[in-house]
Amino acid sequence: MGSTRFSLLNSCAAIPPGNYLRLAAHPESVAKARAHVRGLMAAWGHEGLSETAEFVVSELSTNAITATERTADSPTEVIGLDAYRLPKSGPAGVVMSVWDCSREPPRVLCPDEDAEGGRGLLLVAALAQGWGYHRPVIFGGKVVYATITEAQ
Ligand SMILES: Nc1ncnc2c1ncn2[C@@H]1O[C@H](COP(=O)(O)OP(=O)(O)OP(=O)(O)O)[C@@H](O)[C@H]1O
Ligand SMILES: [Mg+2]
Repeated sequence: MGSTRFSLLNSCAAIPPGNYLRLAAHPESVAKARAHVRGLMAAWGHEGLSETAEFVVSELSTNAITATERTADSPTEVIGLDAYRLPKSGPAGVVMSVWDCSREPPRVLCPDEDAEGGRGLLLVAALAQGWGYHRPVIFGGKVVYATITEAQ
C-alpha cells in the first residue's frame, strides 16, 4: 500500500480529506495509532472524545493486525489509519477508520461470560454512534470505521 493508494482515496469528492497514517501490521503499532489519534483530537479541539476515539482505534487496529496475520499470501503487511471530522452541519464528532488487506468481514460475537476475547466490536458498537465496514474496489481489503460524536 503506497501513498498513492490513499492520495487517490482522498481525491474522491465524496470523502473529506483525512489524516492518513500507514503503520506496520504489528502489535507495537497500536500505541502509535492511539498517539496519532490523541494528537488529532487535541488539534481538532475534541479532547472530550479523545479517550473513546483512542479506545476505538486501538480495538480496530488490533483487529486489523490480527486479520493481516491470518491472511494467507498477504500482499502487504501494513494497516492504514485514517480519521475525519464530521461536517459542521451535523453533530460534532469524528470518524475513525482502519484499513487492512483482508476481505474477511468483522463479526460481532456473543462471547460466553468466561470467554477471554470477543468483546472488542461489542464495545466499539456500544461507544460509537455507528460503525461498519466497506471493501474499497480499487485498493482491495476492507476498511472498518466507527463514528464517535459528542452527543450520543
Ligand atoms: N479487521 C478485521 N478483519 C477480519 N475479521 C475481523 C476484523 N475485525 C474483527 N474481525 C472478526 O470479528 C471477530 C470479533 O471481533 P472482536 O474485536 O469483537 O473480538 P476479538 O478480536 O476476537 O477479541 P477481543 O477484541 O475481545 O480481543 C474477530 O474474532 C474476527 O473474527
Ligand atoms: Mg478485537
